[in-house]
Amino acid sequence: MIVIPGPSSLGLGWRIAEALGVEPHPVEHRVFPDGESYLKLTKPVAGEKVVIVQTTAPNPDSKLMQLLLIAKTAKDFGANSITAVVPYLAYARQDKRFLDLEVLSLDVVLSLLEASGVTDLVVVNIHNEASIRSVEANHVVKVHNLSAVPLLAEYLKKEGFDKAYSLSPDKGALYIAEAAAKILGGGYNYFEKTRDRKTGEIKMGIKDLDIAGHRAVVFDDMISTGGTMAKAVEALVDQGAEKVAASCTHVLYMPGAEEKIRKAGADPILSTDTIETPFSKVTVSGLIADKLKEII
Ligand code: R5P
Repeated sequence: MIVIPGPSSLGLGWRIAEALGVEPHPVEHRVFPDGESYLKLTKPVAGEKVVIVQTTAPNPDSKLMQLLLIAKTAKDFGANSITAVVPYLAYARQDKRFLDLEVLSLDVVLSLLEASGVTDLVVVNIHNEASIRSVEANHVVKVHNLSAVPLLAEYLKKEGFDKAYSLSPDKGALYIAEAAAKILGGGYNYFEKTRDRKTGEIKMGIKDLDIAGHRAVVFDDMISTGGTMAKAVEALVDQGAEKVAASCTHVLYMPGAEEKIRKAGADPILSTDTIETPFSKVTVSGLIADKLKEII
């Protein structure tokens, strides 16, 4: 097996290779003045099972393009199979046509990966597990969706959040709060978030929770602008929660997001290394390495 840590996941790619006990082979990479990427493999791949680790944030378009360039090159040079490990898969939120004539971006991304020779795709906490299954049905590439939630919950348990209440900011992420509650043991619930499909405006229906004096954790798949997380944290603080943590698998780290969430009262903000940020205290390397051992 050849593990290639892509330019956007050098650290994680290295850790995955280490967990698998193989030497990592990062690509040679330069960015031209106009923003295009030059890439070159550093190890022959003919007949090899190739694993490319490349997250797709920040700058999803260029990160995705780099992944396609690496995968197609591995295919051209005779790789036996190509597994793309894309811990944060960009474009997964547009997983159905919410409005007429919209793009179905998740479907396009799978088509591009497939055309570049990718046979298996490993992702972590994709936005919606059900949608990936319906989109996957139109493709040959096999999608393996892993969950980092137990790792986040275990970390928080050791950091004083044992028996904390788990909350998701919308019903779609309830499964995350539920999985976390199995580890934290303090019960779980969700708020009702609605998003205006045209303006993007978020409204959150807040339930009264018996949370006064208790610790709580808001779990979501991702933090982008921080608006969703901040609203949920604020509601828990307003209801008297003693301490509230903000936890998610992917932090896209948009400007102002951290300030918004801290101002709402969250401490700590916790995430994984699917995208490297100052909040990446939990690594998904072992989780991914175990999956790779199983499927390759
Ligand atoms: C959406 O349904 C996701 O699960 C997240 O809640 C959302 O993407 C977070 O976005 P933001 O941080 O911009 O509110």
